[in-house]
Amino acid sequence: MTHAVHESALLHATCEARYVHDLALRDPTALHAWPVQSTHAHAHVKGLDASRALQMPGVRAVLTGADVPGAQQIGPVRHDEPLFPSEVCYHGQPVCWVIADTEAEARAAASQVQVAYEPLPALLTIEAAIAADSFLTQPQTIETGRPDEEMAASAHRLSGELRVGGQEHFYLEMQCAYVHRDAAGGLHVHSSTQHPTETQITVAHVLGVPAHEVICEALRMGGAFGGKETQASSFAAIAALGCLVTGRAVVVRLDRRRDFAITGKRHPFLARYEVGFESDGRLRALRVELFSNGGYSLDLSAAIMNRALFHIDNCYRIEHLRARGRVARTHLPSNTAMRGFGGSQAMVIVEEIVDRVARTLGLPVEQVRERNFYGPGDRTHYGQEVRDADRIGRIWRELMTSSRFTERRRDLAAWNARSRDTKRGLAITPVKFGISFTTTYLNQAGASVLVYRDGSVQVNHGGTEMGQGLHTKVRVVAARALGVLPQSVRLMPTRTDKVPNTSATAASSGSDLNGEAVRRACVELRERLAPVAGQLLGCAPGEVTFADGRVSGAGKLVAFVEVVERAFLQRLPLFAMGFYATPGIHYDAQRGRGEPFRYFAYGAAVAEVEVDGFTGHYRLLAIDILHDVGDSLAPLIDRGQIEGGFLQGMGWLTCEEVVFGPDGALRSRGASTYKLPGIGECPERFVVNTLGRASEAGAVFGSKATGEPPLMLAISVREALRDAVAAFGGIGPVALGCPATPEAVYWAIQERTRPGSGA
Ligand code: MTE
Ligand code: HPA
Ligand code: MOS
Repeated sequence: MTHAVHESALLHATCEARYVHDLALRDPTALHAWPVQSTHAHAHVKGLDASRALQMPGVRAVLTGADVPGAQQIGPVRHDEPLFPSEVCYHGQPVCWVIADTEAEARAAASQVQVAYEPLPALLTIEAAIAADSFLTQPQTIETGRPDEEMAASAHRLSGELRVGGQEHFYLEMQCAYVHRDAAGGLHVHSSTQHPTETQITVAHVLGVPAHEVICEALRMGGAFGGKETQASSFAAIAALGCLVTGRAVVVRLDRRRDFAITGKRHPFLARYEVGFESDGRLRALRVELFSNGGYSLDLSAAIMNRALFHIDNCYRIEHLRARGRVARTHLPSNTAMRGFGGSQAMVIVEEIVDRVARTLGLPVEQVRERNFYGPGDRTHYGQEVRDADRIGRIWRELMTSSRFTERRRDLAAWNARSRDTKRGLAITPVKFGISFTTTYLNQAGASVLVYRDGSVQVNHGGTEMGQGLHTKVRVVAARALGVLPQSVRLMPTRTDKVPNTSATAASSGSDLNGEAVRRACVELRERLAPVAGQLLGCAPGEVTFADGRVSGAGKLVAFVEVVERAFLQRLPLFAMGFYATPGIHYDAQRGRGEPFRYFAYGAAVAEVEVDGFTGHYRLLAIDILHDVGDSLAPLIDRGQIEGGFLQGMGWLTCEEVVFGPDGALRSRGASTYKLPGIGECPERFVVNTLGRASEAGAVFGSKATGEPPLMLAISVREALRDAVAAFGGIGPVALGCPATPEAVYWAIQERTRPGSGA
């Protein structure tokens, strides 16, 4: 069987793939918007004078709150984001927007808008917010066992603190929206959004019109990574408002600097923990307090903290555990979803804890990790059974063997003994990631499948394509379920007038949810066609099989199109809607108990690094990955997701650093000041394998979600760097910053080798 190639691969490679801005550029009548941005992190807006800007060439309007016919406040969960703020809450926040004939004219005029501010004190860090009692949420807690008693009874205890950095999504295509009135007078919104329904609803609220007046279409995105789950909607609302005010089509497109400064990022976290453990390395009790930096508004921060609390165990059984989390409110852009969605931060924290336990005891870290793995029948701290816990051990052992871990550990020790100024480090880390939206009701999807008389097929579903290959996977599902060739299936641009009330394409569940909705629609069609085929073939409907565009039964064969034509003449409907709601999941947030996930995705990675003791500079020598993708729908897509997710995680944990100045202005605002992993940082040897015999009963055609889980494989790189730092001397735990930039690695080595250091 040939594996499905990304349905837009050729278009990507030839630059023919169109994005929202390309659509807008084909419309010469479209106007362009540019924001006037706050020059303070926190201030009252005392006055706004647009008279000079309105005199500038090409200017059509300056949008302010006075133009809004509907809701002034937006926000996905809590409506706490004013489109036109009278109190600015972060540096760079849009205060108003200029609409002009060209982007250059809008930009020039924006600089002429006079805004008077009365500055107010600003909180920028989690620590400052804690001191000021500034929070966006009440604390959430998940507790199991008797953490206090068992902590006291543990043979060993240690406590610590870890700060985990944020991360910019750095999608290649910036936030963009293009809105025009369609021929029927409705608003047609083209948006680079992961959540067309929320974008539709936000536009409708701001304009004060019913949802049916607004169509949101999402052709494709040039990357999203969670950054367009909620945060695309405000830009669509501005474009729609501009369209309402001027009567013309309006485009909003941010440049890199503005996108970086205006939109939220991955949440930085602060963890304070105490762990109790036994002399063999077994974890007995854990108390951990998590704080995230939510920025100025709630956005998805509560759900992100929730997912963090769900992942503080990673693969480890900790029978007595209390995890508490609270979101700090600061004067920064509102932090949002990003690949891993809080689970990633929590997993970094628990891997640090396990490493400290092992090094405190002087035991090999990989042994302590393995010793604490969940086994069959175990339940997590929120009460969900880890049904296929044996996969953790299976992946671990297979990867240990295939990566030759033990021999390499020995070779590496010998190498380090010979090398004084350069040291190598090796680590293996596991991943367990819960699949489903933790907000149960979001786990639903719809689809519509249309069969034309010539046998060609159009598929609509509620998911969006952001490069992750969702359309490719759904096409495989449709072709298989209908028994036609993939090339006769066309995936249509996602539109809210085709499938309504959709969830965001997020939580890695795009193909699980939309794929299953499409499969069900196809099964309904096939069941309708089977009796017709039975007549043609002379057999019972139950004996008919559909495969590869042919329909067979009773030893005979007809083309799919013949069956379709016959069904049409018999006046049967050749279209079907499909719907799927993930069964069996539930969660009671009050009790902190339930089964929030349909299943877990598993994987493990081995990283080997080489560190220069003089500079902290390092090289990634080799990566070995074994990841569980179930029965892959599209192995090439899944490989891309594993490699890409790993590298994005590596960037987060080793080189990307979001830096704000003391005034709250973003200092790292482009690729020149924000170090992304480049080809030079890619591992010299990069081995990616997928787990065999891994069919997932709970998902479409036995497949498994692969969008987010591989990102956490990169924790292995941070732990390998720690291992290398340890090799420079000293004993006991190694303190290492996160991200482990070369600078952080340098200071870790200094700390470790400082004469008289406790280590
Ligand atoms: N892959 C690419 N190329 N671009 C993206 O924006 N987003 C990631 C992941 N992989 C992303 C990606 C995130 S955050 C999620 S939740 C999933 O894809 C969403 O798509 P899926 O549910 O279809 O896997
Ligand atoms: N993951 C991603 N996005 C979400 C989630 C989740 O668990 N819940 C709400 N939005
Ligand atoms: Mo992904 S962070 O769930 O969009």
